[in-house]
Amino acid sequence: MNTVTTTIPREEIHRQLALCRRAGELLPHGPGRPAAFVDTYGCQQNEADSERLRGYLREMGCAFTDDEGEADLILINTCAIRQHAEQRVLGNVGALVHTKRRRPGQVICLCGCAMQRPGMAEQIRRSYRHVDLVFGPHALWRFPQLLLRVLEEKKRVFDTEDSPGSIAEGIPAVRQSGLKAWVSVMYGCNNFCSYCIVPYVRGRERSRRPEDILAEVEALARAGFRDITLLGQNVNSYGKDLRLGVDFADLLERVNAVPGDFRIRFMTSHPKDAGEKLFETMARCEKAAPHFHLPVQSGCDRVLAAMNRGYTRGQYLDKVRRLRALIPHIVLTSDIIVGFPGETREEFLQTLSLVEEVEYDALFTFLFSPRPGTPAAALPDPVSPEEKQRNFQELVDAQNRISAKKHAAYVGTVQQVLVDGVSGDPEHPLTGRTPGGRLVHLTGDAGPVGSLIPVKITGSSTWALFGAPADADPDNN
Ligand code: SAH
Ligand code: SF4
Ligand code: F3S
Repeated sequence: MNTVTTTIPREEIHRQLALCRRAGELLPHGPGRPAAFVDTYGCQQNEADSERLRGYLREMGCAFTDDEGEADLILINTCAIRQHAEQRVLGNVGALVHTKRRRPGQVICLCGCAMQRPGMAEQIRRSYRHVDLVFGPHALWRFPQLLLRVLEEKKRVFDTEDSPGSIAEGIPAVRQSGLKAWVSVMYGCNNFCSYCIVPYVRGRERSRRPEDILAEVEALARAGFRDITLLGQNVNSYGKDLRLGVDFADLLERVNAVPGDFRIRFMTSHPKDAGEKLFETMARCEKAAPHFHLPVQSGCDRVLAAMNRGYTRGQYLDKVRRLRALIPHIVLTSDIIVGFPGETREEFLQTLSLVEEVEYDALFTFLFSPRPGTPAAALPDPVSPEEKQRNFQELVDAQNRISAKKHAAYVGTVQQVLVDGVSGDPEHPLTGRTPGGRLVHLTGDAGPVGSLIPVKITGSSTWALFGAPADADPDNN
C-alpha cells in the first residue's frame, strides 16, 4: 500500500510564515501581545504537532498563557483514540462558551485527530457555535492561512477534508522542554488494526527524508537536548515509501552517529515488523536507550487475528526472547486492550498468562472502546461491562505486582540518571529517568535539572524508584 508521498514545497511554508505577521496584527489583544492558550490531548505525535502550531503562533507574535480565561486565542489539539478522550475534549470545549462570553473577541480553534473523524466537524458546526476554526492533522501546515480567513472574513472555517496526507518541512517548533525533544520520523499508519481510528484520521504512512531528520537531530544536540524520541505510529515501516534503501535500523544508526551527549528513544514499534536487524542495531548503538515499547494488545491468537495484528502469541514471545538475549537489561513495556468484542474469560486469561510470562516493566492497559467506522465497532460484543472491568482490574493488579518486583531489584544499584524536573515533595524535590526510562524521585543535592549523574537507588514502589547522588568515589558505593 505504498503511496507516493506528497511534500509541501518549502516556498509554500514560507508563504504561511509570511501570513503569520498579518494574522498576528488581526488577533485581538490588550496592551501587550496576543495571548495564546494551547492544550494537547493524545499521544506524543500530537505533542510534536502542538510544538509546530506553537511555532506558528510565536511567528504571529503571540505570548503563551496557561489561563484560558486570559487567552485571545485558544487552540485545542484533540485525540480520537478512545471515546473517553473525545468526550473529555468536547466537555472542555463546551465550557469555553463562558470564557468567550467574557472575552467576545476570543478566537477558538480545534484541531487534531478527533476533528478529522467523520461526522465530528459537522457536530462542532451544529452544536458548538462558539468555535471559530476546525482543522484536521492534514491541514496543520496551513494553520496561518486558515486563521487569517477567520480573522479577515469574520466567519467560521472548517478544513477537515480526507487525504492520504503530506510532509511539510520547515515549520518552526516551540519545544515544551529544553531537555527532551520529539522528532517525528514518519506520519500516518497503514496497518488498520481492526479497533483503531488512527489510519482513518492520520492518513497513509509517509517518511521524512533522512537528511531532514538528521539536520533536526544535529540542531537539537547542539542546543543541548539530552533525550530525543523518534516518533511514528509504526517506526519499523520507516523509509518504505522513500525507496532510498534506508530502513528504521539504518536511520537509528545514523542518528546515533550525530555528535553530542544525548539518549535516543523511539516509539512505536509494531511487533509484526520489529526484527533482528533493529534489535542488533539497538544493541550496538551506544546512544540508544535500553527501552523497547512493544505493544502486544492480547495474548490470545484468536483475538490477535480478529484485531488484524499480523502476529501470533508465539511469534511475539520469540521476538521478546531475541531482544532480551541481545540486550539483557532492556526495559520492556507494552499496551494491552481488555474487552475486545467477544473476548471470553478464557481468552483474557491467555493475555494474563502472557503478561506473567514476559514480566513487563510497565504496561498501558485500555478497555476496548468502539470507534465509529472501524471494523471492530461493528462486531457483536456479548461480554458485560462488569466482566470486562473485572478482567481489567485483574490485569492491572498482576502488572502492579510485577512492576513492584522489577523496581525492587534496582535497590542498591547505581544508575545513570538524567535529572529532568522538580516535584512538590520536600524529601525528593527532583525527578529523573534511568536510561531505560524509569522514573526516579531524587534528593535535593542531585541538581541541577539537565545533569546526568550516577544515582544510588535506595528505595522503590510500584510506580517509581527513589535515590540519591552516588558518591563519586566508587569505593563508597
Ligand atoms: N501505533 C501504536 C499505538 C497507537 S494507539 C501501536 O500500534 O502500538 C496507542 C494504544 O491505544 C494502542 O496500542 C492500543 O492499545 C490502544 N487503543 C487503540 N485503539 C483503541 C480502542 N479502540 N480501544 C481501546 N484501546 C485502543
Ligand atoms: Fe492503530 Fe494499529 Fe496503526 Fe497502531 S499500528 S496506529 S494500533 S492501526
Ligand atoms: Fe490520539 Fe491521534 Fe495520537 S488519535 S493517540 S492523538 S495519533
